[in-house]
Formats: sequence, structure tokens, C-alpha cells
Amino acid sequence: TARPVLLTGGTVVTAESTVRADILLDGGRIAAVGADLSAQLQPGVLECAEHVDVTGKLLLPGGVDAHTHLEYGIDGFTTRTVDDFATGTTAAALGGTTTVIDFVKKEPDHTVRESFERRVAAIEARAVLNVGLHVIIPPQEQQIDALDDARALREHGVTSWKFFMAYPGTQMVDDGLLLRGMDAARELGVLPMVHAENGHMVARDTAQLLDAGTTGEPFHHAAHTHAAEAEAVHRAIVLAQSAGTPLFVVHVSSAQAAEEIGRARLAGARVWAETCPQYLLTAYEEYAHLGQDAAAYICSPPIRERANQAGLWTALATGTLATIGTDHAGFCMEDHDGQDVPPQKRRSPGHFPSVPNGVPGVYERLMVMYDAGVNTGRLDVTRFVDLVATRPAKLFGLYPRKGAIAVGADADVVVWDPDRERVIHHADTPLRSDYSLYEGRTVRGCPTAVYAGGELVVTGTTFHGAPGRGAYLPRETPDVAPATRLSSRTLQETA
Ligand code: URP
Ligand code: ZN
Ligand code: ZN
Ligand code: ZN
Repeated sequence: TARPVLLTGGTVVTAESTVRADILLDGGRIAAVGADLSAQLQPGVLECAEHVDVTGKLLLPGGVDAHTHLEYGIDGFTTRTVDDFATGTTAAALGGTTTVIDFVKKEPDHTVRESFERRVAAIEARAVLNVGLHVIIPPQEQQIDALDDARALREHGVTSWKFFMAYPGTQMVDDGLLLRGMDAARELGVLPMVHAENGHMVARDTAQLLDAGTTGEPFHHAAHTHAAEAEAVHRAIVLAQSAGTPLFVVHVSSAQAAEEIGRARLAGARVWAETCPQYLLTAYEEYAHLGQDAAAYICSPPIRERANQAGLWTALATGTLATIGTDHAGFCMEDHDGQDVPPQKRRSPGHFPSVPNGVPGVYERLMVMYDAGVNTGRLDVTRFVDLVATRPAKLFGLYPRKGAIAVGADADVVVWDPDRERVIHHADTPLRSDYSLYEGRTVRGCPTAVYAGGELVVTGTTFHGAPGRGAYLPRETPDVAPATRLSSRTLQETA
């Protein structure tokens, strides 16, 4: 194992506070946090530690991205995301994320249980970070023993279940199965998650657009309305309340849908929600006129109008939206020689329903959110840490091992230079998805070093970790207790 490391002169930022303190990493854990640790040199660990001067830097808990799709089959497994656990987790680390939570989806010739074991094997073979897994509850037609399998996976650390209210025919569950699943989730203490879009409304609107000859890529946006998202969010909340379970809504894109969540939370509902950088920082107006190139932006729910963004920022400020995940689902725009992937974003040009849904973002998440959130004063830096690390760790049963800078936590620490600028370039990452939504954007604030399990895995834009150093990360019971405080800045802005 790595030699102990003493980070001196930095400012530790957690979800609660910003404090000048040194951190000692030893044996893969945080061994000490405190002022002037080096002045307290004791025989043993401290004196043999490598001293690293991080004066002027922030020390953040490693980012937790609770929403990625690596090596992930979609559209009935007719294609799959192009990033694997190696490229995906390496890019995550380069951006300051040290934990990701991905998904187990039932494969056509395998049970949910077998699919889980295959995912764990893939993680152990290729990942360079800790990777947890949510299980996707398959639709009724594929059920067989799926719910029983999902129950059994709890003891293997799968403590969250995802339901799709969208994608009829391949993924969508009806309300009956959703209710049964929520009942079971409550009994087991697992957290149900929903992709909330009314799949029937999207299918109807898609058919109407195709009938009218409006089939081009930008029309994906018109087929996925605010109403379809808000309806599904509202329904999921009502169903979860009737089942007596907390609920997590993934990738909230619509301010109208966020309002449903805000109302329910005010009324005491235990509903938590995520949004993603692409919904806050990119807009329909950027791809409306791109024709076939609009495929790069296609994801569901869609990247919406610029006017929608303000409502999402407000929902972040008020705490209605509680986490930032990426929904990283990388597909290529161009065919790449030698890459073993089926045709992707351009597999049927001019026909929006054929475009694989999903955008990359696992590399950029912390940098673009820090730049657009903290540098602008929209987010207090402690709230930033809560959104990108601490809250997802709590909600998905990883806290305080992850998402914390505290004695005993995993030594996942990001050395963050708040003044350093970086230009976002897809080419600085090993991602196989061949573009970035943020290409050429200059951000201020970026990771200069990343420790994962006490090991220095990143300096600058270079990854140093050993291939396959990652491992499957079993999770504990989700902590869904309400936030006890919001930062003062957040409260002032809300007032
Ligand atoms: O468009 C998206 N979001 N693709 C990934 C799968 C999902 O719906 O989360
Ligand atoms: Zn989704
Ligand atoms: Zn997703
Ligand atoms: Zn590529």
C-alpha cells in the first residue's frame, strides 16, 4: 500500500464547513484532519509521511457520480454506450470524481442475478475507481424472478432500484409494477429511483411528429414535453407516498417537474431529486438548428430551452434539487475504425427516434458546476460539495465512507485549485464518446491532484492509477433523512 501522505496548508471543504486544515492519508483512509498536523509530529506515521504542500488549494471529498451508464446496452440491446468501466472511470477521476454508481440491467439471455454478477466481473476487470450498482427493475414481460433477484441483491450491496416510466416496449414499467416495486422497496429499505417521463405521451407525440414529416434530430425535444416529465414526477411522488417509501427522481430536466418536487417536499414528502450539468449549462437553442448534428445533444429527458434553466437553478438554491449526477451515456457521432461498437448517433440519420439517447459528461461534472455555480455566486462552495459528493453518498448508502473528509473515511481527496483555468477538451480524456458538450469552454477551478483510496491517481490531466485498480463497491442502507441546514448564502438567495 501507498506511503502515508500529509497534505499541508490547504482548506478543507465539506458539505458543512470550510476550514483551514491538514489531512493525513494512511492505509487507504483519512487518518487525521486538523490544524498544523506537521507540528504535532509523533513517532510513527506522521514523520514518515510524504509532505505535500497544497497551500492555496481546496481539499474536497472525492466526487460521487451516482448516475452513469458504462458498457450499457440500450434499445433492446441493439447498441450500447461506448465507454467501458476503464475509460469511464478514468475520465471520472481526471475530473475529480472518485466513486461512480452505475446500473445492472437484465440482459436478454441472463437473469437479473446473473447480469449483476457479470457487471461485478466487468468492474473488477476494468474499473479504476470504486463502482457501485443500482438495479433496474425490468418491465412486466421480462419479470420472471426479477423482483426476487433484486431483493436478493440487497445483501450484495445493491440498495437502490431504478424504474423507467419511459421507453414503452423495452424498459417502461406500468403503475402496478411500480407500486409493487415501491412496496417491496419500503419493506427492504432500498431507495426507489425513477426515470420520470410519461412513456405513452412521448410515444403519442413522437408518432404525431413522424406523421407530420418532422423527423429530424432536433424534434426529439418536441416529443419529450415538460408535461410528460411533470406528470410522471407527480405520479411517482403520489405512488411513493401511498407505498410509504422515500423516492429519488433522477435527471430532472424541466423546471415544471422540479416545481412538483418542491411542492411535495414542502408538504413533507421524502422525495429527493437529481439534475445534471447538461440541463443547467446547455440548451435547446444550441442544437435546434444543427440538423443531424443535433444527435450529439439527444438524451431523455431532453436538453430544454434556455428559459428553463433559471427554474432549475432556483430549485438547486432552495434544495428542491439535491444532487448533481451526470447520466453519462456516451455514444459516438462518428464511426471509429477498430472500435467494436455498433453504429451509434448516426445509425439512422434524419430520424430522431433512432438516435441512441444519452450524452457524455463524467469528466466535466465538477469543473463545469464549480465554474457556473460557485464562481458566479449561485452556490456556496459547501453546497457544491454536498451536491456533487456528500448528498449522493448519503442517499445511496456510502456516507461517511465516501463524500466526507473525516477520520476513518476513505482517502478519496481532490486537491482543487480554485484559481486555475482549464479549457475543456474531449481529447484530454480517454473517453470513446467522441465529443464534449463543453468543448472549448474555459472553466476556472479544476483538480490538480486526485487521491483515491490514498493513492495519487491523477495529477493535472494525467492518470497514474494502475489499470483495473477499481472494485465493486457494496452499499449500505440509504440515509434519506432531511437536510438539516442549507448554507446561509442559499437561504439568503431564496429569501
Ligand atoms: O438519454 C438518456 N438519459 N440515456 C441514458 C438512459 C437513461 O434514460 O437514463
Ligand atoms: Zn433515465
Ligand atoms: Zn440514466
Ligand atoms: Zn470516439
